Amino acid sequence: MADKLIIFDTTLRDGEQSPGASMTKDEKLRIARQLERLRVDVIEAGFAASSNGDFEAVKAIADAIKESTVCSLSRANERDISRSAEALAGAARARIHTFIATSELHMEKKLRMSREQVLAQARSAVAYARSRVGDVEFSPEDGYRSDPDFLCRVLEAVIDAGATTINIPDTVGYGVPELYGNFIRTLRERVPNSDKAIWSVHCHNDLGMAVANSLAGVKIGGARQVECTINGLGERAGNCSLEEVVMAVKTRRDYFGLDVTIDTTQIVPASRMVSQTTGFVVQPNKAVVGANAFAHASGIHQDGVLKARDTYEIMRAEDVGWSANKIVLGKLSGRNAFKQRLQDLGVELESEAELNNAFARFKDLADRKSEIFDEDIIALVSDESVTAEQEHYRLLSLAQHSETGERPRAQVAFAAGAVEHRAESEGNGPVDASLKAIESKLQSGAEMLLYSVNAITSGSTESQGEVTVRLQLGGRVVNGVGADPDIVVASAKAYLAALNKLHSKQERVAAQG
Ligand code: KIV
Ligand code: ZN
Repeated sequence: MADKLIIFDTTLRDGEQSPGASMTKDEKLRIARQLERLRVDVIEAGFAASSNGDFEAVKAIADAIKESTVCSLSRANERDISRSAEALAGAARARIHTFIATSELHMEKKLRMSREQVLAQARSAVAYARSRVGDVEFSPEDGYRSDPDFLCRVLEAVIDAGATTINIPDTVGYGVPELYGNFIRTLRERVPNSDKAIWSVHCHNDLGMAVANSLAGVKIGGARQVECTINGLGERAGNCSLEEVVMAVKTRRDYFGLDVTIDTTQIVPASRMVSQTTGFVVQPNKAVVGANAFAHASGIHQDGVLKARDTYEIMRAEDVGWSANKIVLGKLSGRNAFKQRLQDLGVELESEAELNNAFARFKDLADRKSEIFDEDIIALVSDESVTAEQEHYRLLSLAQHSETGERPRAQVAFAAGAVEHRAESEGNGPVDASLKAIESKLQSGAEMLLYSVNAITSGSTESQGEVTVRLQLGGRVVNGVGADPDIVVASAKAYLAALNKLHSKQERVAAQG
């Protein structure tokens, strides 16, 4: 029998550390449910001690998820570990993941601790975590740049103290495949009790090698857990991408000889959900989940694929969840058909009130857009105003006028809590005028770092526009996403969604730093 490769998804923790990718509790819960449908083995739901918001999100996920193990990150101290244990109390399967940096650079400059202090703290943190749950993972942060002799001592001590998984992070994405793979193998060979734990890889993508390094850690090093995120989401250049690792191991089973128990047909829905929730757009040529991943433009390729699809295709689009854009619903569709479609898409709304709210928005959209696709429905339920977490700022109406040779003007009405505002402005274009109108009233002072527009469904200008706005204020970076057939309206929604995130006061502690 082939070995199993454990898929540990950290979209909701390491992925969320990406500037602007922070998610609300409801958004995280929705993604966690999708990860469960995808059948990931472990969901790292967050860093419970970093903020009350994170604690609540980990707790909600732990209470709701039954099939996957739910994990919470903790620094190597009793307070963090206790918060994780409390948040995970309702989980069917709980894991505590504790970490401390072990590279000279991090110990000296960041922690200001000696080797012996770090070793002692790692050991006692793992022992304490084991007194709270049976499944404990330990990570030596910046492990790949740590002195192997010292690292072996730390790892032996934490396995002795009860760590069941040892994860070796390449925190700064410095590795190259052969060297990283050999590093894992050497550690496993040199740590005397290495066979008492499962070994795991955790690679960042700064040099574009996170997936290659992770696979080398598996093939050369013998790791049996890969830590990864949907769409490779994560700080800087991101983390190892789940869809690429999973499809590499499945497609080249002849080489890896490993089984993964992922339901690959849920990959594209998961990719879309994460992209639409965070506003991090997937590049068209991204492997597996990019819009062009299965598109053959050249005549020779098209001809070949029509004659025998394996001439140019090594995976089948439908196996990773691509389905032709289907017209699923229209203006005559009723509430039951809408509810059924949500169920087919794996979307579970929390209450009847949310369903009614979503259905009202669906009807509104169907009045303006004759064909409603799956992507439209996902965008609709991703809209934060559909969910129970009511937003502070809400767009009420927008009118704009633009004409060749004239400076565009916009009038916007929006609510801020119970107060209704009306504002007017001109701008370089209708989008600029609309956002300036909002800003003229709110005077948030936020700096715009990114503005991007995408068609939700490709192929026609009938598509809804999906706008991402990234704002920065007082050191915080947030993304707002808005969708509408009218991209000026989508832009105003996205801007208000970003302001809503800035408005939510929760502060969090960075996992690394
Ligand atoms: O990259 C890293 O070192 C991490 C650890 C906290 C596991 O994310
Ligand atoms: Zn990381």
